[in-house]
This record gives sequence, structure tokens and C-alpha cells, in this order.
Amino acid sequence: MLILGIESSCDETAAAVMRDDQQLLANVVDSQIAIHAEYGGVVPEIASRKHLENIYPVVTKALADARVGLDDIDLLAVTAGPGLIGSLLVGLNFVKALALIKKIPFVGVDHMAGHLLSVYLGEAPPQFPFVALIASGGHSSLFHVRDFHDLTLLGRTRDDAAGEAFDKVAKLLDLPYPGGPEIGRISREGNPQAITFPRSWLEPGSYDFSFSGLKTSVANQVNKMKKGTLPLPVADISASFQEAVVDVLTQKSIRAAQEMGCKTVVVAGGVAANSRLREMMTLECDKAGLELAMPPVSFCTDNAAMICVAGFHQYQQMAGSPLDLDVYSRSPHLMQG
Ligand SMILES: Nc1ncnc2c1ncn2[C@@H]1O[C@H](COP(=O)(O)OP(=O)(O)OP(=O)(O)O)[C@@H](O)[C@H]1O
Ligand SMILES: [Mg+2]
Repeated sequence: MLILGIESSCDETAAAVMRDDQQLLANVVDSQIAIHAEYGGVVPEIASRKHLENIYPVVTKALADARVGLDDIDLLAVTAGPGLIGSLLVGLNFVKALALIKKIPFVGVDHMAGHLLSVYLGEAPPQFPFVALIASGGHSSLFHVRDFHDLTLLGRTRDDAAGEAFDKVAKLLDLPYPGGPEIGRISREGNPQAITFPRSWLEPGSYDFSFSGLKTSVANQVNKMKKGTLPLPVADISASFQEAVVDVLTQKSIRAAQEMGCKTVVVAGGVAANSRLREMMTLECDKAGLELAMPPVSFCTDNAAMICVAGFHQYQQMAGSPLDLDVYSRSPHLMQG
């Protein structure tokens, strides 16, 4: 089965072509980061207009890279949510038009299911059951995953998502947008033990996350230090903040795997691109005797290859989506977090 996947939920217009859920033939990601950087964050109105300009060339390039035509495509997969409504509408309506004209079935896919299944784009896909951490710009969620469509939400963020915390702290430190990768980069020059920022474990047994207290603590520290005469130790603050986030994400994921009786931990979403998170997860899973599976770094942030994988499995399990399918800004079911 040849799948054309399309992702337009935020500020990346992406298209991919995949054979079943295994062989990636093309993967095109057109990022709007440079456009939104001057505003310090994604401007939804600009994002949807850019998707409208980009979607046709991006899809055309993906088909050309894969050396296939629309007539060869058996299934269309598109992100239906969660995300920015105007941006999602561009992708979904483009796919509906293709589905109608070419008489190809389509599936509206959950973006979080895409992040979760991006791990199948790696070299060593995990065996069920596993515990999955999805840490991204809008979500920090822990799932107990027993099969492709059999999963339970164990915990979610009660305030900021992990990626959001990275982006907000980067702003406090006057680092350019997007902040997550900048903090990751600059932290390599800093001391993660320089400042002991609080870890929010929440009540015993909870798998939920909370990062707003940590963010406030960084803000207070920055304000205090700015009153002094020395230059702000940006690398030390970044590294210490990053260590606090990574510590909580790692410990909670490992505890969840142990308590659920799973042998494998999966880490996905944009924050899974963070090298300290990858390093600490590797070390701690090793210590705990757990397997670790993560998508390659390039598939952690938004892409359409993960939408192809999610679309393939959704179509195997359920019928195609109806032509009156709507988009949604927040996941309506389990995927919420
Ligand atoms: N190396 C990194 N270190 C830390 N954070 C990172 C890194 N790379 C990306 N991020 C963060 O990941 C987030 C982007 O991930 P992703 O594209 O999955 O989010 P999103 O699609 O905006 O949100 P969601 O998937 O929840 O809808 C941003 O918050 C970004 O700062
Ligand atoms: Mg995402």
C-alpha cells in the first residue's frame, strides 16, 4: 500500500510517501521557523497562509522524490488535530480535494498518534507492551501502550508542556525562537549542577507533570542575577534548567514502565530531539534493565512520515474517514495531555 501523508498542524508544511508502514520513499518538511522567529512565536494567521502557499509545492516535491504519481497512491493520511485550526484546515481540505478527485480513501490522523508511532521510523521498533513518553510543544504525556489502538493515558501535564517550558525559559534568557533547540545547544557549555532548580514530582504515585513552578523559579533566578554586576550565566542556567526537566521526564517514565510491568520505554515528540534527554534516558533505562526506543532525531519534531505510519495502522483497524470530517484544536480522547 502506497501512502501519501500530509502534516500542517503548526508551522511545518510536510508531505511524505511511504510503502506500508516500513519503506519511506520521500519526506519533505518545509519549516516556517524563520518567518515566525521575528515574532518570537508562531502567528496562527501567518502560519495558515504559508501552508496555503506551500502545500502544493511540498506535496509535488514529495511525489517527485518518491518517483510516483497521484494515481499510484492507495491511501491519503492527514493530521486532523490537535493543532492550529486554520493550519489544519489547509491540510485536511487539500487531502479531501485529492480524495474526491482521485477517488482515494483518506484518514484523518491524530498528531499525537503520529508522534507516538514515529518510533517505528527508527531502526529498532519496540515490542508491545511499552510505556511511551510524548514530550512536545503542546504535550507531556505518558501512555501505557499495549497495541496500536490499545493504550491508556497514565499522566499528562497540569500546566506547561515540556517543550513549552523550554521555549518560555529560552525567552527569559533572550535566546532566539525556537527556544528548545537553543537551550539544548547552549547547555553543552554550561554546568547542569550550577543551580539546583526544583523538580516537581507531584503527589506520590502521580504520573502527571508540572513545569510552571520550575519556569517561575528560573524567572526569579534570572531577575535576581540581572540585578548583580556580573553577566548572566546563560549556559549554566540553561543546563541546570534542562537537567531539572530531563530528570523528571526520565524518572517518571522509568517508574511507569516498572509499575506497568513493561520492558520498554519509548520517548517521542519534539523534546525527544534533546541530546541530554536522550543521554539520560539511555543511561537510566540501561541501569533499570529496560529497553529504550526513540525515533531518529529528524523524526522527533513535526513531519509527515509519522502521519503515514499512524494513517496506515488506523486504516488497517478502521475504515477511511468521511468527507465531512472536521479538524480539532485539542485531542478529544485519550491522546489529550
Ligand atoms: N533539542 C531540543 N531540546 C529541547 N526541546 C526541543 C528540542 N528540539 C525541539 N524542541 C521543542 O520541541 C517542541 C516542538 O516539538 P513538536 O514539533 O513536536 O511540537 P508541536 O507540534 O508544536 O506540539 P504538539 O506536537 O504537542 O502539538 C518545541 O517546544 C521545541 O522547543
Ligand atoms: Mg508536534
